[in-house]
Order: sequence, then structure tokens, then C-alpha cells
Amino acid sequence: MVQVAILGFGTVGSGVAEVLTQNRAVLAEKAGEEIRLKYILDTREFPGSPFEAQLTHNFEDILNDPEVKVVAECIGGATIALEFVKKLLAAGKHVATSNKEMVATHGHELLELAKAHNVNFFFEASVGGGIPLLRPLACDLAGNQITEVTGILNGTTNYILSEMLDKGAAFDTALQEAQAMGYAERNPAADVEGLDACRKVCILSALAFGFHVYPDLCPTQGIAAITGDDVAAAASAGMKVKLLGRTLKTAEGKVCAFVAPHFVPASSQLYHVDGVFNGVVIRGNAIGEAMFYGPGAGKLPTASAVVGDMVDAVWHLSQRRRLDWADAQPDQMADPWELPLPYVVRTTASLAEVEAALGQAKALDGNGYLLAAPTTRRAIEQSGLALLAVRPVFQ
Ligand code: HSE
Repeated sequence: MVQVAILGFGTVGSGVAEVLTQNRAVLAEKAGEEIRLKYILDTREFPGSPFEAQLTHNFEDILNDPEVKVVAECIGGATIALEFVKKLLAAGKHVATSNKEMVATHGHELLELAKAHNVNFFFEASVGGGIPLLRPLACDLAGNQITEVTGILNGTTNYILSEMLDKGAAFDTALQEAQAMGYAERNPAADVEGLDACRKVCILSALAFGFHVYPDLCPTQGIAAITGDDVAAAASAGMKVKLLGRTLKTAEGKVCAFVAPHFVPASSQLYHVDGVFNGVVIRGNAIGEAMFYGPGAGKLPTASAVVGDMVDAVWHLSQRRRLDWADAQPDQMADPWELPLPYVVRTTASLAEVEAALGQAKALDGNGYLLAAPTTRRAIEQSGLALLAVRPVFQ
């Protein structure tokens, strides 16, 4: 029998408790021994909860209990959660977390700490919710030179965009629904402004290219500035507006990471990823292109990934699975504003003026123009056109 603990009894933590309990028998079979939930740490009381007996307010109960071998961190943020995780790893306990902020800002440091103490630090749930994504990227696709990872990485904004586009819902109503369903961050500005997707790009980038990309090296735009004219321009070209997080190798061999609303053509699998679902396209020189698709947020899907990590930790209680990356290499990063991409520009200028400034283009609805040749955002910004919006097209 292996005893485990959960830090945080919010949406994800309570989902982990539920999965561990409901699936106890199948987990015991798969893990090879019973996984028993001994503690749940939270500052709050949960009178009447079936997990009342496991509740503690004292982190030291978990830290100092030699029977607890594996801990799921579901508090979130990079303050108290970080402090706890560092102490747990240093105490020789394996940690599984859903905390993308902590991994994006301290992943390298925590993996080094885990290595020093011969324990595992797993974070499958931090990107793509319940989708098996990070392990396949790190392990199953290890035979590839990865060239690009691009995805719809935030369920809340994809839900909002889908509700607005498909059902004509108001932004605020769609956001409130996403919050009620447990998809949104505690502060939903992190979703809407793209920061949550940015953190996930940082993690994907580290796994794909081998060094840490901190969030300040990943320029980020959210969906707040998306208008009906963007939607109309996209629709008239047979495309949809999607918030994409991307990390890719440039022609010069540098890594370029960014988050921005894109126009996505119907020929891309990402076009068909709607609602809270996430979709992530991985391109590599052996696989070609693979897409990972599934629920990107929500209590039980996220818990599914955390519990999967806990089982992996039980399988490797005395052996560390190889998982690490180097620290940041800012000189290896390229500026996305200098990356040649297909673009739609929205401007009040005429087609003739757009073509004079940026070359051949096709007029779309909503004052949009689809440029015929890839160009850089820098060149568009410097074109002298009165720009309403500049949207890359995903290809
Ligand atoms: N707020 C996040 C989302 C939760 O909407 O995708 C999952 O990381």
C-alpha cells in the first residue's frame, strides 16, 4: 500500500480525491498496490464532505509523515504552493501537480531539485487538462527533431470564442458560464489576456526544445480585442478566430514562442476544436504532424491527468524517470515580430493601398485583407497603414 496526500481541496484537488476513491480498485490493479489517500490539506473546513477525516490544516502533517510517498499539489500559484513543493521534494516525496504557473516559472529549478533528491516531479495536468500530451511529447516523440508545437491551450477562451461565434453569446455571459463550470482561473484575466496559454507554451517549449522559456520571453496577446469584424473577416475566408499558443524552430534554428489570436483555416484540425476542448498540433521530422485533442480544463479531466502522474510515481518510487531541461537561453530565442507568417491585416485602407504597402492581397469582410505572401508583423506595423488589427493565419 502507498499512502498519498493532496494539497488544496478546490476544483482539481477535490477531483483528485474523487478519482482516487471512485477508481480505488482499478488503480490498485494498475499501480500494483493500493493507493490510499491519507491527507488533504486546505485552510477551509468541509463539514459533511466524505473526505472530512482526511482533512488537515497543517502542512507539516504531510511533510513529516514518512508513510506519505506521493503528493498531488493542487493549490495553484507560485507562492505557497512553490514553498510546499520544494519542501516535499527535498524531503524525498514524489510530487504531481496541475500548476502551470509554478512549472512555467520554476520548472527548471524544481526538476533540478527532484533530481538532487532522486524523486519524480510530474506535471502532465499543467497543459491540456486531461489530454495525454506532455509524456507523449517527452517520451513517445523523443525520436523526432520537433519543429513546432501549436495549440488551443486555454479551454476558457476557446469556450468563450465558440459561444460567441456559434451561438452569438455575449462575452461576459460566456465567461460566467466558463467560471461556473470550473474552467476559468481564479482570476479569469489570466485566461482572457492569454497568460494561462503563455505559461503552457513555456512548458511545451521546454519539453520540445530542451531549455526553459520563462513567460516574459513569450510575447502574449489575449482575446479581449477580438471584435465582430475579426470574426466576419475570418468567416469570409472560411476561417475561425482561435487563440493559439505556439513554439517553433525558425529557419535560423532559434526558438520562437508566442500567444496570439489567429485565423485558422478549415483545412486545419484546430479549426474543429471548439468549446472547452484543447487541441495541440506537434510537428516533427519523423512523425510529420500529430494532433492531441481532448478536454482542456475541468475537475475530473484534470484530475485524470494528476492521478495518472501519481500512478507513474508509484511505479517509480525508488527510481527517477528522466525528465529535465536546461535553464533559459535568451540568446536562442527569436522575436515573433520578425517571423514571416501568413497574415490578415484589418485596416480602413483600400485594397490598392494595402497592396502598395504590403504586396498582393485579397479583400475579406470586416475591413480584412489576406496577404498573399508571408510577411513579418514588424513589416506590417511599419507599413504606414492605419491598422485595426493584425492577425496571423495558422498553416
Ligand atoms: N483556466 C484553464 C483553462 C484551466 O481554461 O484552460 C486549465 O488549465
